[in-house]
Amino acid sequence: MHRFTDYGTGVLLAPSLLAADFAILGKQLQDAEAAGAQVAHIDIMDGHFVPNLSMGPGIVEAIRPVSNMLFDVHLMISEPGRYIDTFVKAGADHITLHVESEGNIAAVLDQIHAAGCTAGITLRPGTPVESLYPYLPKVEMALVMTVEPGFGGQSYMASQLPKVAALRKWANEHNPALRIEVDGGIKAVNAAQTVAAGADVLVAGSSIFNKKTPVEQAVKALQDALK
Ligand code: DX5
Ligand code: ZN
Repeated sequence: MHRFTDYGTGVLLAPSLLAADFAILGKQLQDAEAAGAQVAHIDIMDGHFVPNLSMGPGIVEAIRPVSNMLFDVHLMISEPGRYIDTFVKAGADHITLHVESEGNIAAVLDQIHAAGCTAGITLRPGTPVESLYPYLPKVEMALVMTVEPGFGGQSYMASQLPKVAALRKWANEHNPALRIEVDGGIKAVNAAQTVAAGADVLVAGSSIFNKKTPVEQAVKALQDALK
């Protein structure tokens, strides 16, 4: 099991599989890892919580043996509590759920911990950051969405950065080890401002996996933008 605390305190890069070429998924993941990315961000969508379907636990299980990255599962599903054990068995290290999802959120976070994973909480762009506060003492990571969840390749919403800053302030006061992840539209041009706001895990889908730039080069461009 991988832990965010295994990686020290630097900024971590989390390539989002959603944008990868699924015909060569294992290879894409290995290329990102070889280039220095530490976290594999895995978007799970149920066609109900968001209007799109992505992948299920079978994909997570298939790629677990070919990657040593921390598997960061982002559940965009209506009833996350029903699937925690399935994703843990498939190889998840960390599971994030939406504060807008159904069920007892605190109980599902406990369920994630009981299964041996770290837990995260996230919100849609339209949801106020205050909605996360009751759950922050129970999580290892808070995730700010800079796009509406559901699809890769959308434009970055800088309007969400005050949420990142508010969460960093909370972390400084209560839990400096809290990881703050940002997901949606991250590219070399906006990576530094995202980190400056307080993020220390950057998800990047289409800017890492695309037909134009080799994966290694795309990871390096993000790393260089943070120097
Ligand atoms: C959107 C997903 C994101 C998405 C990011 O619902 O949560 O993780 O894959 O992709 P890009 O980086 O292309 O916005
Ligand atoms: Zn995501």
